This record gives sequence, structure tokens and C-alpha cells, in this order.
Amino acid sequence: MNIIYEGKAKRLYSTDEPNEILMEFKDDATAFNGKKKAVFENKGLINKRITLILYRLLEKSGIKTHFVRDIDDTRCIVRKVEIIPLEVVVRNVAAGSLSKRTGLEEGTQLSEPMLEFYYKKDELGDPMLAPTHIRELKLATAEEMDDIGKKSAVINSVLTEFFAKSGFRLVDFKLEFGREEPERKNIILADEISPDSCRIWDLDSGEILDKDRFRRDLGDVMESYQRILEGIGAHAENS
Ligand code: TMP
Repeated sequence: MNIIYEGKAKRLYSTDEPNEILMEFKDDATAFNGKKKAVFENKGLINKRITLILYRLLEKSGIKTHFVRDIDDTRCIVRKVEIIPLEVVVRNVAAGSLSKRTGLEEGTQLSEPMLEFYYKKDELGDPMLAPTHIRELKLATAEEMDDIGKKSAVINSVLTEFFAKSGFRLVDFKLEFGREEPERKNIILADEISPDSCRIWDLDSGEILDKDRFRRDLGDVMESYQRILEGIGAHAENS
């Protein structure tokens, strides 16, 4: 197996199938564009399980993902895609960079879900992009952006309802999409959906349970991730 890409939290390997790759979830965690680093035992395993539970749920709602089959604790096979270099952020509640940029108090329920795009480019620090920037840089066509917007809205509805049923508030999250190889015509959901890429709070107490526990030095990072896994795991079968 040849490694074809190593990111901050995942490794990708080629397989014998030209249009399938192996995705491995690492225990490494980074924040602030790699400036803060740590390793959390079992993070890879927990994030992979959470991602696959959410992928199955989304597939049932008609959202195609890159998932093909599971392998073991930290690895699964996914379809090869050409990743669109955008971090697609959906927000339901003000937090993080939205609160910083706008002054909206953390925890303020937004009047409607908000969609934002960031350029996946470490050298530039992943800046926010307007649709005009995306067009000028030819990162995605107008049709693709329309498709991404519609899919993101469906994903948000499905996940928000499911997390609420499981006792959690889905504050915001980041998605990545790719063009399915070899035709590169269909856009499918790629990467992961985990507490590394979402803000998830306890529905009743508002307690932070996601990667902000690491970013803000709140402690008990893996205990919180495990709580999310158990909470959604208990509701996954009957949804
Ligand atoms: P933000 O408030 O820092 O812009 O983050 C919005 C959401 O995107 C939050 O759920 C965390 C997620 N996110 C990532 O997955 N990767 C990143 O590099 C950043 C900055 C945020």
C-alpha cells in the first residue's frame, strides 16, 4: 500500500482498485492551522465510528458519500474523488469565528442556517471566500456550487434532527465535497464528520463536547467524544 496523502488527522493510501482508496483516521489532533498539537488515544477509532454512523444516516436520506466499506478500528475504503478545495461550513448557532467576526454572542440561535466557504490552503491560513472569489479561482462551477449548497442544506436538516434526538445541539460543522472519479461529474460528500469537524453541545446543559475542548484547554476531550459516540450510537438503529 502506498501512502498518497497525509493530512493532520488522516492518511490516505492507494489500493488495488484504481477508484478506491483506504482512509485511516489518526489519533493526532491539531488546531489553529497546526500550531497546537496533541495525540489522543482512540481518537481515530471514535471519529471513524461517528463518521460512519452519520454517513449511513445521510445515505438513507439520499446523500451520496465516498464510503465504500469498513475495514477495522481506524480504517475504511472510500471512493476516489477529486477534492474541491473548499471547507463548506454550515452554522445553526453563533460560535467560533462567526462570533469573532460579527460580535454575535456564542450560543445565539441563527434565524436561518448559514453557509460559508473557506479556501483549503494552509499557506494562506484557509481564508473565507465569497462566491465571486470561488468563480475567479475556478475552484467550482456555478452548477457545482448550487449542488453543494442544496446538499449542505439537506445534510444540515438530517444531522440537526438526529443530533437533537440523541441529546445534542449541532452548532456548526464543516463539510468537504469531491468529484467522483473517474468521470468527475458527480459531487459526493467526502472527508469526515466528527467532533473534530463539528461543534456539538449537550442539548440541556450547553456543555461543549467537541474539538473546542482541545482548542480551549477544557480537558476530558476523549470522554466527550465517547459521549457523542454513545449518544448517537443508541439512536442510530431506529432512525
Ligand atoms: P470556525 O468557527 O472556527 O470557523 O469553525 C466552524 C466549524 O468548522 C466548526 O465546526 C469547526 C470546523 N472547522 C474544521 O473542521 N476545520 C477547520 O480548520 C476549522 C477552522 C473549522
